[in-house]
Amino acid sequence: MMSATTPKIPSQFTLPQDQSKASFVSTPAAPAKITVSDLDFYYGRSQALFQITLSIPERIVMALIGPSGCGKSTFLRTLNRMNDVIPATRVEGQVTIDGNDIYDPGTDVVDLRRRVGMVFQKSNPFPKSIFDNVAYGLRINRVTKSKTELADRVEQALKDAALWSEAKDRLHQSALGLSGGQQQRLCIARALAIRPEVILMDEPASALDPIATSKIEELIVDLKQQYTIVIVTHNMQQAARVSDTTAFFLLGKLIEVNPTEKIFTAPDQKVTEDYITGRFG
Ligand SMILES: Nc1ncnc2c1ncn2[C@@H]1O[C@H](COP(=O)(O)OP(=O)(O)OP(=O)(O)O)[C@@H](O)[C@H]1O
Ligand SMILES: [Mg+2]
Repeated sequence: MMSATTPKIPSQFTLPQDQSKASFVSTPAAPAKITVSDLDFYYGRSQALFQITLSIPERIVMALIGPSGCGKSTFLRTLNRMNDVIPATRVEGQVTIDGNDIYDPGTDVVDLRRRVGMVFQKSNPFPKSIFDNVAYGLRINRVTKSKTELADRVEQALKDAALWSEAKDRLHQSALGLSGGQQQRLCIARALAIRPEVILMDEPASALDPIATSKIEELIVDLKQQYTIVIVTHNMQQAARVSDTTAFFLLGKLIEVNPTEKIFTAPDQKVTEDYITGRFG
């Protein structure tokens, strides 16, 4: 059903000079986790993405930036087929994960979304206990075989999301009693519990104060040891702090993708520089 191609890394992923920041591309042949080729996306007759082609190496953080309405969230949702639930949408082109076309009719979408987790701008905990929120995906996917195994996985996910110490004494209280920043970390824990390979984050810290934001940012940097992360952010400092590569979108087109340091110091495109320096958007 799915061909095992070895995607080529585009030349824009050549090594930046600063090796410490560039551990994600230890060799020029770092494997691509996700490749996107000639992707067009339509809401009804209105085209929202135009010929997007890019490659996302494994275990990096890629930031998506660009003015409101340029297609960042739409693009993010094409990576785990979350747009499928919006009526009258259409995709052309190709998205592969580990070389497999995710739009292939044989793709198991439930399994795809297990492998490619998502965290939204507004934290959306279920009106259940903290424990049940994190256990949710484990239960519906019947991942664990015993109560102790379930409890262990919940604990680990909360630890990974840097929420364990704040939540461990109130696991069976409602998640809605957590603060906004804690709720967002809970949603990250919920995404992590099923051990996805890729995590998509759509402005995960936009509703948070600076302390909660910096916790989420530290977490993102930690998580990339294990996961490939794609994050949409309107905050340029945040993109600069957490990401290895940055993709700049404008009017549904991918204008430039480059190592983050280069995007913020010497972008290839004038329009990227204009956006980053706040001349528009
Ligand atoms: N469900 C939808 N139905 C129709 N059009 C949509 C839908 N969602 C988004 N769009 C349109 O697609 C385009 C891209 O929207 P998208 O939400 O991807 O932008 P964005 O870059 O995430 O913006 P923001 O920074 O404001 O979140 C916009 O013109 C938007 O109006
Ligand atoms: Mg958006």
